[in-house]
Amino acid sequence: MTAGLTMKPQVLVARAVFPAVIARLAEHFEVEANPGDEVWRGAELARRLQGKAGAFTTGSERIDAALLVACPELRAVCNMAVGYNNIDVDACSARGVIVTNTPDVLTETTADFGFALMMAAARRIAESERFLRAGEWKHWSYDMLTGSDVHGATLGILGMGRIGQAIARRGALGFGMRVIYHNRSRLDPALEAPLGARYVDKEQLLREADHLVIVVPYSPASHHAVGAAELALMKPTATLTNIARGGVVDDPALAAALRQHCIAAAGLDVYEGEPHVHPDLLTLPNVVLTPHIASATVATRIAMADLAADNLIAALGFGPSAGRPPTPVNPGVLGPR
Ligand code: GLV
Repeated sequence: MTAGLTMKPQVLVARAVFPAVIARLAEHFEVEANPGDEVWRGAELARRLQGKAGAFTTGSERIDAALLVACPELRAVCNMAVGYNNIDVDACSARGVIVTNTPDVLTETTADFGFALMMAAARRIAESERFLRAGEWKHWSYDMLTGSDVHGATLGILGMGRIGQAIARRGALGFGMRVIYHNRSRLDPALEAPLGARYVDKEQLLREADHLVIVVPYSPASHHAVGAAELALMKPTATLTNIARGGVVDDPALAAALRQHCIAAAGLDVYEGEPHVHPDLLTLPNVVLTPHIASATVATRIAMADLAADNLIAALGFGPSAGRPPTPVNPGVLGPR
């Protein structure tokens, strides 16, 4: 082995990813990859991270204080996801570990999917397909599989970040929807104006939305932000779509509301405890269930993987922006420019 090769820092790519991305990382690092795409957790993840300066992670790997203590050489955790609730960022900052995520590159793709899921719930698309495939379509009838309109309806958005705004744009400009939203803070009026978006309190959002789309990041503060009490405020004709994170919606409470027709339908891409899905949801006809795929287009997944790799390369001091990863979550760790 040459001296140059042995000098390369070691990194772990915790899940399977595009071979071209592994090859790019291998230009700078000694890479331990995971071609079998197993999910490594706890002691197994800590074992794999021994001696590693960097980790390329996804939402499945939990990076917490205990893991950081067990992996003292770790300096960078680069998540291939915009959300980073799998990472204890404060614990990372306290140990000088830089954390990065992949914002922006998935905004439009994720908004497309949120809109599609909302439309599928409103127009009963998955239910209709099951009905047809089951051979139940015998004739046309005036009220067969009637749903609710999306165009001209009131779109309620909980969490008006980049993805929330992209969904609002689709609703306002493409479908003539009236947009109301609730967020930790109100948007700059210059961002609201082109969408005709109106900031309302959470109760008004729940009461007035015909279609509620949840895009708020998961944190202890957003845990079960929509549960039985909130669902009880919604219109019986309303739909709820969750593309944020499992745990923001109380899934059993949602299942009960759907069963009792407190709301009309739901579209879910994320679940508390996923990939486990609450069994009550699996039995209901009026919920469209997808397996956490809102960002899953080939182009966007390549862009996310590339950005996570750019972050890892820069965070560990290589490449054109050495020392300055493009999308840090805790930039304070990097110190002044
Ligand atoms: C997906 O859920 C992400 O956070 O990117």
